[in-house]
Amino acid sequence: MKNTIVVGAQWGDEGKGKLVDVLAEQSDLVVRFNGGGNAGHTVMHAGETYKFHYMPSGMLHDKICILGTGVVINPKDLLEEIESFTGSGHAPRLRISARAHVIFPHHQMIDAKGGGKIGTTGRGIGPTYSQKASRINLRILDIIADDAESRIKTALRDVKDMLIADQIFSQAEYQEYCNSVSTEYAAYGQEFKPFVTDTEDLVRVAGKNNETVLFEGAQGTLLDLNYGTYPFVTSSSTLAAAAFVGGGAIPGVPIRILGITKAYTTRVGEGPFPTELEGDAATNLREVGHEYGATTGRPRRVGHLDLYALRYAVRISGIQELAMTKIDTLALVSGVKACVGYKINGKEIDYFPADAPTLELVEPIYTDIEPVADLSKEEWVKLKGASKAQLPESIRNYIKFIEDFVEVPITILSHGPERNETIVF
Ligand code: IMP
Repeated sequence: MKNTIVVGAQWGDEGKGKLVDVLAEQSDLVVRFNGGGNAGHTVMHAGETYKFHYMPSGMLHDKICILGTGVVINPKDLLEEIESFTGSGHAPRLRISARAHVIFPHHQMIDAKGGGKIGTTGRGIGPTYSQKASRINLRILDIIADDAESRIKTALRDVKDMLIADQIFSQAEYQEYCNSVSTEYAAYGQEFKPFVTDTEDLVRVAGKNNETVLFEGAQGTLLDLNYGTYPFVTSSSTLAAAAFVGGGAIPGVPIRILGITKAYTTRVGEGPFPTELEGDAATNLREVGHEYGATTGRPRRVGHLDLYALRYAVRISGIQELAMTKIDTLALVSGVKACVGYKINGKEIDYFPADAPTLELVEPIYTDIEPVADLSKEEWVKLKGASKAQLPESIRNYIKFIEDFVEVPITILSHGPERNETIVF
């Protein structure tokens, strides 16, 4: 099997966790390459629900799971996640990049103060990446070092004036924070030490040994820092290309790029959403689809399937195949349409606007879609291993319509949250 990069093809929450869990079975390594605790990847198996914010969703298969260099890590939250998953502080198959950046409490405080207008998850993601880019942040290798406490204190001195000017801390609070956080984070560093390594080299060696690597993206293509609906985006690159930079994927090694899309569209936080539903129709879809954020519990904004945005995501991320999730939810709601174009001032456009205010102005061009068959669990079970030709006509037509528009095949259909509620064509 080829190495695979899994990315969200919408605004996140497409069901990447479930799909990574499904694909991890046939992989040797699973690598997260971007984002941090803002992600909430839900995996359901054998009646249990697991929510991973950090750990790659391959953990349930006991595969080597890597947090790559592009990930930003809150050590406290990660340790809690490890403990709640393993019942101990040990996750023998987890590896953490020494070069990954560390999220400190002051990053979360800055995010809490300034992230409101974007509707961030409040996990300190933006401030951490921005201090990384400013070359003043600390990496995992710093907090595991013997002189970690002094490295942390020195780094905090670099941001002292800013923290006080922005009223994150008073002078006295800063001093107290500096002392307590340096001791606390150096202790986390000691707990992390066994997991920390050169993860890019692990990926390289796996490639040499013909092992299969699965790269797990977080968030979605439309939240990408460069190509998403800026400034209403996250602070990392969410495209497949980020797996090379943040996860150690090796250019030239054959790779399959799989995008995940829901059968409709959702978005959390602020920002343009041309096909957003309002009122009862939105409430109904949200309730039927359980559309509440896995990280923050916020109600997700819901809308018609935006094929125009999906095609942009396919193109920009180089997606070669799509997995479509939540077809079972679509079957239970009426009136969901497909958007096949955008108009501005009554004139159809042939580009995806880069400017958020312009995107707010677009009028979607809709086409009605035939309601898809509402199959019982038993009927779905009978379709296990089915080809597309064997699907009920309405589902087949829906898939074909999407494939024709976005110009890539749908190769996986997910009809429920459990691992076995998946058809691979
Ligand atoms: P941040 O990543 O917390 O800085 O948030 C920036 C934007 O990305 C906000 O609109 C968030 O709601 C959104 N976002 C971040 N992570 C996710 C995710 O995993 N799923 C969906 N939206 C996300």
